[in-house]
Amino acid sequence: MPLLDNNQLMVPARLGGYAVGAFNTSNLEITAAIFEAAAELNSPVIIATSQSAIKYAGYRNLHDIVRNFSDETGVPASLHLDHGTDLDVIRGCIENGWTSLMIDGSHLPFRENIKKTLAVVELAHPMGISVEAELGRLMGVEDEIAVDERDAAMTDPDQAAEFVELSGCDSLAVAIGTSHGAYKFKGDAKLAIGRLEKIAELVSVPLVLHGASAVPPNVLELARKYGAELPGAKGVPPESIREAIPFGIAKVNIDTDLRLAFTGCTRQILADSPEVFDPRKILGAAREGMKELVKSKIELFGSAGKA
Ligand code: G3H
Ligand code: 13P
Ligand code: ZN
Repeated sequence: MPLLDNNQLMVPARLGGYAVGAFNTSNLEITAAIFEAAAELNSPVIIATSQSAIKYAGYRNLHDIVRNFSDETGVPASLHLDHGTDLDVIRGCIENGWTSLMIDGSHLPFRENIKKTLAVVELAHPMGISVEAELGRLMGVEDEIAVDERDAAMTDPDQAAEFVELSGCDSLAVAIGTSHGAYKFKGDAKLAIGRLEKIAELVSVPLVLHGASAVPPNVLELARKYGAELPGAKGVPPESIREAIPFGIAKVNIDTDLRLAFTGCTRQILADSPEVFDPRKILGAAREGMKELVKSKIELFGSAGKA
């Protein structure tokens, strides 16, 4: 099956009240795990590649691996650039068969973010490629800032409506209290659901939740048991994701949980089976762990059976 763009996956999701998982990959094993999970649950999926993943693996390798799995499994999938900031990489993705682009101008002043997003929309739309933009900034616990400053960084609902209209973006990533990585909250994990509800009232394009990993206790426990040092790791509880999806969230981004699953399974097999030195056995164990992780996300996001 040809790769789809994100509108084809996300517009039905927003209308249908479910979200499509966007899982980051940088290699064969992660990609295989995502497609195997999606195929078993008959789910669409978004394959996300960051700029640094492209630098690590190369455009052609990533594209061809994703395209081949999509062909072999029949899973409806897009190939998406995550957090694009560099126009050269954006052009590289367009030339190499990416079907969806994120332009992340969230660090820019409002008008400059609109201008940069519009420039990418003008490059992408004639090629049938969809564009995700971001308004508002995701903050981590490492950002030592006051609560009111944290609020000010979140997406403003009125600005979001104006942004979408003027930029022409197809979907909008919002900042409502999540953050990237394994250390998202010091105290209670809390999302600004009221703010999301207002954004969803004013913005009709599909919304995107970045920084949505849960740091699942079982996954964390396995990694720690085998020596990973992750003090204070804390993610977004599954209940919060379930609460957010009905308010227009049609794409949920997961990277950290895949990394944690990979780490735990790899450490376990190396420690428990010291005689093993076949990379396929070591990486195969990680692949299985990541597949189970992706299946649990697909169930949570409600995209099972929507392929
Ligand atoms: O949101 C960013 C993703 O987790 C990708 O991170 O730049 O380390 O590949 P990366
Ligand atoms: P996590 O770090 O929570 O997995 O977020 C990933 C993400 O937003 C990728 O764009
Ligand atoms: Zn992100």
